[in-house]
Amino acid sequence: MNILFEILSKKDFSRALQIYNHFIINSVSNFEEKKMLMKDFKFLYNKNRKNRLPFLLAKKNSEVLGLAFVSKFREKSGYRFTYEHSIYVDPSYINSGYGSVILKKLLKQCKQNKNIKNLIAVIGSSDNIASIKIHKKCGFKYIGTLKKVGFKKNRWVDSVYMQKKL
Ligand SMILES: CC(C)(COP(=O)(O)OP(=O)(O)OC[C@H]1O[C@@H](n2cnc3c(N)ncnc32)[C@H](O)[C@@H]1OP(=O)(O)O)[C@@H](O)C(=O)NCCC(=O)NCCS
Repeated sequence: MNILFEILSKKDFSRALQIYNHFIINSVSNFEEKKMLMKDFKFLYNKNRKNRLPFLLAKKNSEVLGLAFVSKFREKSGYRFTYEHSIYVDPSYINSGYGSVILKKLLKQCKQNKNIKNLIAVIGSSDNIASIKIHKKCGFKYIGTLKKVGFKKNRWVDSVYMQKKL
């Protein structure tokens, strides 16, 4: 598949944020409703780096095709071995197998961090088949669905939880 992985660096911030914001505006996979500002994206990135968590950028022929990163699942200290991840593939590249490859790479990186014992996928919408499929393929187990906990684009949206123990 010829994908190159890099740790996100400043030169690719705008492109990564563009992909992230595409899904905020055009889908219910992310429950934000307004585009993320660059200053907030930088804050997210700096927090991720400070906590030594993976922040991956996937490229093909120097084109950015996706990103994936890990953040704390909850701030309370008892959750310190549990993390949540996010994965986004550029809309022009979806359904071509890249999402599964990026998720596999992210898992490899997570396994190198001994603090990451649990990884939780919090999936926006029960009909996000692509996301549910790639997680199942990578060994995540379906835990349950919080019904109609999000309201976006004038409709109620479920939140699907999947978990993998590392
Ligand atoms: C979820 C996401 C990362 C998946 O990336 P991708 O590159 O499309 O994933 P892949 O191509 O590896 O796999 C998608 C699978 O879902 C299948 N699929 C997609 N839509 C489908 C549908 N409506 N019905 C049935 N299968 C579907 C594809 O055929 C593919 O199956 P396969 O592996 O058997 O070929 C991508 O769709 C995305 O960025 N979505 C928006 C953000 C998001 O939801 N992120 C996840 C948050 S946890």
